[in-house]
Amino acid sequence: MIVGENPFMQKILILHGPNLNLLGDREPEIYGTTRLEDIDARLTARGRERHCEVRSFQSNWEGALIDRIHEARKDGTQAIIINPGGLTHTSVALRDALAAAAIPFIEVHLSNVHAREAFRNQSFLSQLALGVISGLGARGYELALDYLLEEK
Ligand code: DQA
Repeated sequence: MIVGENPFMQKILILHGPNLNLLGDREPEIYGTTRLEDIDARLTARGRERHCEVRSFQSNWEGALIDRIHEARKDGTQAIIINPGGLTHTSVALRDALAAAAIPFIEVHLSNVHAREAFRNQSFLSQLALGVISGLGARGYELALDYLLEEK
């Protein structure tokens, strides 16, 4: 689809929302023991093998994530993989930023948000997403990246 057909370096942005900087220590029985820097390192390496520049950004601030999405409109980002953390279930503003950027994105959750508390069943983003991966742990990010890098 987006990626793979273009002979030039592809650019994919990974966005991590609030509290994901604590991965590894944070409720490991739910989110696993892999640290965020390990997830990012794996994605960067996987991208490099496929001539794709993978950049990652984490923030605990909604506005900082929105600013980064605005920046992505101008920096050549072709696709986004986003784990919005708790903002998934609350943020109209994050949804609006993704709609405004009009960059295809995949929503990823480490846990299966549909098998947890009712308030996690709703996502303000899923309706706009290319796809949603939930419950496959850190593997979910890699599967999302593989999908974006597939020749379609
Ligand atoms: C999460 C699920 C959210 O409900 C939660 O607030 C998170 C992480 C996940 O990756 O499973 O912070 O997005």
